[in-house]
Amino acid sequence: MSDEPAGTAGRPRRLRVVLVTSTVGLLAMVGAAVLPGTAAAASTLGASAAERGGRYFGTAVAANKLNDSAYTTILNREFNQVTPENEMKIDATEPQQGQFTYGNADRIVQHALSRGMRVRGHTLAWHSQQPGWMQAMSGSALRNAMLNHVTQVATHFRGKVAWWDVVNEAYADGGSGARRDSNLQRTGNDWIEAAFRAADQADPNAQLCYNDYNIDNWNDAKTQAVYRMVQDFKNRGVPIDCVGLQSHFTGGSNYPSNYRTTLSSFAALGVDVHITELDIRNAPSDAYRNVVNDCLAVSRCKGITVWGIRDSDSWRSGESPLLFDSGGNKKPAYNAVLTALNNGTAPTTPPGGGCTTSVTPGTVWGDRYNTSVTVSGASTWTVVVAITRPQTVSTTWNGSASWDGGNSLLTMRSNGSGNTFGFTTMMNGNSGARPQIRSCTAG
Ligand code: XIL
Repeated sequence: MSDEPAGTAGRPRRLRVVLVTSTVGLLAMVGAAVLPGTAAAASTLGASAAERGGRYFGTAVAANKLNDSAYTTILNREFNQVTPENEMKIDATEPQQGQFTYGNADRIVQHALSRGMRVRGHTLAWHSQQPGWMQAMSGSALRNAMLNHVTQVATHFRGKVAWWDVVNEAYADGGSGARRDSNLQRTGNDWIEAAFRAADQADPNAQLCYNDYNIDNWNDAKTQAVYRMVQDFKNRGVPIDCVGLQSHFTGGSNYPSNYRTTLSSFAALGVDVHITELDIRNAPSDAYRNVVNDCLAVSRCKGITVWGIRDSDSWRSGESPLLFDSGGNKKPAYNAVLTALNNGTAPTTPPGGGCTTSVTPGTVWGDRYNTSVTVSGASTWTVVVAITRPQTVSTTWNGSASWDGGNSLLTMRSNGSGNTFGFTTMMNGNSGARPQIRSCTAG
């Protein structure tokens, strides 16, 4: 909160629940025989995400599926956050000007809140899925109609919606870095900040997000343009709390290797980041795992929402991009996501003395993965890491390595290269295990 400019500091904010961090995922790999009495790894996406610093794992929900018990069984078991897929869009909530209809959205909100799931509102201002009356408008009449819409809808859901996608998809694709042309854009370049100010007035406790697609690759002009807008808003005190990366890794763009840089760069502006509409063509486990690890590596990445439950629920069902097949069975990508969530480690205080470690999962390839470990509390240190056979370590960096215990205990000593060391682990057929810190000793 201290990094927010004076212009927004007085605005009441939703209290963030900081959960006591957990080593459940790490310890689960060790097993009860070695560390008796440790809790089991979480067995659902939402529960595991909650253990990773109070994050959420959510899904888009369609109101007309809430009476499909196969659908709600998975929804209620796995997810602790919900985004209405279409029911809060402008054409759904204000089909005729001044006549608001909330039935389907209210049903989703009720379903979610009664089960302790948080709700993302999607979306208050957008060039798409506008009702006919709005499509036909322009100029100040449209600006006023848009602001009234923002005010009415945000007021209706006040206290129920945790995050609003206030504005969706306002930037153009390609290399221009320009705003997308739309009837809303033609009302004046300040339409986005006007929408955020109206939403802030209507619901001061909701977190207000800008949401877009193709802002995943840090090198893209569109990403840079949105970054500069958020930076400008923070500098001028426009009330913005978060950026949503839709992350539809299908069709037009793939998971970029600099995704973590994008997340951390937005976060460094003083906003939270959310992965809001994740789906990946053919649901490759590696890409899903990398997205999870990237989010876990950025403390301001508050959660991940997949854009539907089963492949048959997807807006791109032909690409089978989700975590459950059309029969509701868990796909390999589901297991990859759950394992990555469970392996995500929070700072721990291992035995030894004088220092603590924080483990950050790195890039995962088909046959190997990286891990980095940051040591706190000592400038010279010795850290012992246990590797689960048949996994082996092929490379280490920023420390001097030695081996013990049949090459399953890696000892890393500081060598003047700083306090973060890393290593590459070859899976050798075991893709699930992750290294465990055995001790950290100062000196
Ligand atoms: C999609 C829905 O999934 C479809 O059911 C609907 O027909 C079109 O919109 N970006 C967004 C989402 O912000 O609202 C879109 O959802 C997908 C792309």
